[in-house]
Amino acid sequence: MKRLYLLGLLACLVQPAFADVKPTAAQDRQAFIADLIGRMTLEEKIGQLRLISIGADMPQPQILKEIAAGHIGGTFNTVTRADNRPLQDAAVSSRLKIPIFFAYDVVHGHRTIFPISLALASSWDMQAVALAGRTSAIEAAADGIDMTFAPMVDITHDPRWGRTSEGFGEDPHLVSMTGATMVKAFQGAAPNTADSVMASVKHFALYGAVEGGRDYNTVDMSPVRMYQEYLPPYKAALDAGSGGVMVALNSINGVPATANTWLMHDLLRKEWGFKGVTVSDHGAVTELINHGVADNEREAAKLAIKAGIDLSMHDSLYRDELPGLVKSGEVSVQEIDNAVREVLGAKYDMGLFADPYLRIGKATDDPQDNNAESRLHREAARDVARKSMVLLKNEARTLPLKKQGRIALIGPLGDAKVDMLGSWSAAGVPMQAVTLYQGLRNAVGDKAQVVYARGANVTDDAHVVDYLNFLNWDAPEVVQDPRPPKELIANAVEVARQADVIVAAVGESRGMSHESSSRTSLSIPASQRALLKALKATGKPLVIVLMNGRPLQLNWAQANADAILETWFSGTEGGNAIADVLFGDYNPSGKLPISFPRSVGQIPTYYNHLRIGRPFIEGKPGNYTSQYFEEPNGALYPFGYGLSYTQFSLSDISLSSATLRRDGRLEASVTLKNTGTRDGETVVQLYIQDIAASMIRPVKELKDFRKVMLKAGEEQVVRFDIDEDELKFYNAQLQHVAEAGRFNLQIGLDSKDVKQQGFELR
Ligand code: NOJ
Repeated sequence: MKRLYLLGLLACLVQPAFADVKPTAAQDRQAFIADLIGRMTLEEKIGQLRLISIGADMPQPQILKEIAAGHIGGTFNTVTRADNRPLQDAAVSSRLKIPIFFAYDVVHGHRTIFPISLALASSWDMQAVALAGRTSAIEAAADGIDMTFAPMVDITHDPRWGRTSEGFGEDPHLVSMTGATMVKAFQGAAPNTADSVMASVKHFALYGAVEGGRDYNTVDMSPVRMYQEYLPPYKAALDAGSGGVMVALNSINGVPATANTWLMHDLLRKEWGFKGVTVSDHGAVTELINHGVADNEREAAKLAIKAGIDLSMHDSLYRDELPGLVKSGEVSVQEIDNAVREVLGAKYDMGLFADPYLRIGKATDDPQDNNAESRLHREAARDVARKSMVLLKNEARTLPLKKQGRIALIGPLGDAKVDMLGSWSAAGVPMQAVTLYQGLRNAVGDKAQVVYARGANVTDDAHVVDYLNFLNWDAPEVVQDPRPPKELIANAVEVARQADVIVAAVGESRGMSHESSSRTSLSIPASQRALLKALKATGKPLVIVLMNGRPLQLNWAQANADAILETWFSGTEGGNAIADVLFGDYNPSGKLPISFPRSVGQIPTYYNHLRIGRPFIEGKPGNYTSQYFEEPNGALYPFGYGLSYTQFSLSDISLSSATLRRDGRLEASVTLKNTGTRDGETVVQLYIQDIAASMIRPVKELKDFRKVMLKAGEEQVVRFDIDEDELKFYNAQLQHVAEAGRFNLQIGLDSKDVKQQGFELR
């Protein structure tokens, strides 16, 4: 924070100051803001707390008028400098010339779309994650955007939740690392630099734990579980410097986050010392009435401002209700000032007081064509996309494919540009996306023939199609092929029969893994399952290329396909990246950031569950253990799982000592060997299990990992340092402690298949 502050001051010295009260070197940030607040009317203060959705809240002339009157603090949903410039012109023409800021959902790319967040986490490669975040920030800032509503670090254990696609999976350590990396990448050298955007981590808090995976549902959770599993990623993002926090739409133990003084004051501000700005989610202040904690709009506004919601997004309640609440004394001027201070502080930190046009620039420099190819970062997107794919099965070395003969590409997602981008694809343009059909043809050139048949619609369920097309997209999201399903399949089978290998591109349309798109089933839709069965019946080698935003139920695929590649929604360069992997121009190295259940009934299947009194023991017959008796227990693909075209072996673990002293360190090492014939990368994962403690502890927890590249035949010693901190947990009094006793240290290439070694903390 200190560093940001110094950089802020420096920026003030070297750039013209626009606000009426100009920051000078002698004034620190606090004094500058206090001075400004002292000159503001109540109306102007309340104006700063309003975040307006462009295109949704009010007509443009009214927006300009309200900004010029100092009644709007920021806007979101504009994505060009030319759109933002008149809005900023209006702001600097206001009485106090306080600039507004521009926000947008830059989640996994801006103009260039990178793979979805769940895919980024699948790379377990923080350099790749940082490349995605930094590139997104550079592109967004170049479009005049100051703040992104990202990263989303909500842990989920329930893949029915559509927003699973937007998060980084189920594990606190991996989600924390990925989220913190994104924050740093978005904010670059500092949020006040011209090529940075301020991050606002979301959704605070626990949004991923909505009951039943149904979006916007309630969350009920013990304090220990919150502190141990769900809160660490938000904290990690704040420690990484996230300037903003977006508040969740859900309730927590009976109190909506938007009205939750424990969450916003006691935890966020007091315990964690957060000094940045808080933003409500879309319409969340009004929704306090639906939640049933406010009887009317006045009460809703009062609850939110008192809870510490600084900016109210897409809501008129602060404007309409706060003046009356202040007048009656129910809300103090001090409470308003506290919120205004954070909004102005964020603007200061974004460099906007020094130069409101920092990211908007001069009109003469505006790009002629916003969607120009030259503005895209295709190489970076392709590199990150291929690193994020997970090879789930590869029987008899079906993959990599040879660039020869005839390849049948079949499936509704084989040539669907819009679906490549995934949800929240910001200013990404579907026409600029490379589909798998294009990617395969680019890769083979004239060495092989690629023939495409659609084979099925994503779904034949008219109700689902209506739902998907109802979502707010510019054009219909799902366009149905009018041919009867039987005809589509017959045509695909015909194409497949004449080919040497079938590549089946199946899964979900992007809208199926989106906000509000919760599912009761994790199956590949019936239309595509019928297609897969018909393709299998041809007897040709069957490679399934999955495109989806959540774990799917893949029992049939695992039993019947020759190879399965999880590609998620892989972004603008997805088709080329998938082709790189299919043909072995890139050796897959991704690992699952979330477990894949065998059925919906098995949920939750997260690997780091608490221990129980009667655990199910594989291979041991008998009743009265914790299991589902109709199907095998445990995930189909565990957390951390993913194959390569080469093979790796791990030696037994050697520990520098069998005891760890509280002020000491322990070194655990294993020798990783590439025993195959190709160069390749894998992720060595370190898990720890506390054998007995004052609270029940998980069966294991990820504590560290290394992504290691080895040439064929090469070996390397991989070392991990363990200290007391790695053994800490929240006890019943919510103290973060490490208790003396025995621990199991496990190292593996996934969470299930591990080597193990014991040690003791003294
Ligand atoms: C609602 C979503 O929950 C949130 O994630 C997003 O940032 C806002 N809408 C703004 O688009």
